[in-house]
Amino acid sequence: MVSTLESSHSYLRSMQESDLPQVAEIERETFPSPWPLSSFRQCLDFGYCCRVLAQGSLVQAYAIMAVEVDAAHILNLCVRSEFRQQGEGRQMLNHLLKLARAAQVKDIFLEVRVSNHPAVHLYQSADFVKIGTRKDYYPSEKGREDALILVKRLSAEKLEFQD
Ligand SMILES: CC(C)(COP(=O)(O)OP(=O)(O)OC[C@H]1O[C@@H](n2cnc3c(N)ncnc32)[C@H](O)[C@@H]1OP(=O)(O)O)[C@@H](O)C(=O)NCCC(=O)NCCS
Repeated sequence: MVSTLESSHSYLRSMQESDLPQVAEIERETFPSPWPLSSFRQCLDFGYCCRVLAQGSLVQAYAIMAVEVDAAHILNLCVRSEFRQQGEGRQMLNHLLKLARAAQVKDIFLEVRVSNHPAVHLYQSADFVKIGTRKDYYPSEKGREDALILVKRLSAEKLEFQD
């Protein structure tokens, strides 16, 4: 664990190359079909929004979002298991929403496993809505599992604001 002298607070910052071993470790501990470290490195190389929440050198959570002209796509969001249910997932998501609004995208898309109730709850509470299903999208213990396709319409948010 990180020394308490290093920092007693968590900070959100850009992901660095030096974070990748920890990010890949959390990913392996979390997902049945984890991204390899090289996929995270590619996201950095592509200039995607790659963020970590870290206490000193200890990575507690990470998130990755690709921003295009009109839309953003949340590609990954994960909290280290011992830090879950303490608000970090929502903090990361809120940060991504802020970045997407600043980039003036209209929509934010993501896919989530049908059975991933904590994540579905988090996204729905942030006004993501289901727009479709990808059949057998993820590998699972029973074979394959569907993904929900969710979207948050930032353009609708803007109209509400203007009314
Ligand atoms: C999904 C995940 C990111 C949520 O992060 P977290 O830090 O645990 O969540 P938070 O503490 O910010 O809580 C956010 C909301 O989700 C709810 N929630 C979190 N974990 C939950 C659980 N296990 N069961 C039910 N609800 C849960 C919280 O109650 C909260 O809702 P509320 O504000 O209405 O009470 C985290 O569980 C995780 O990393 N899971 C593994 C990776 C993953 O599934 N990523 C998403 C892939 S699309």
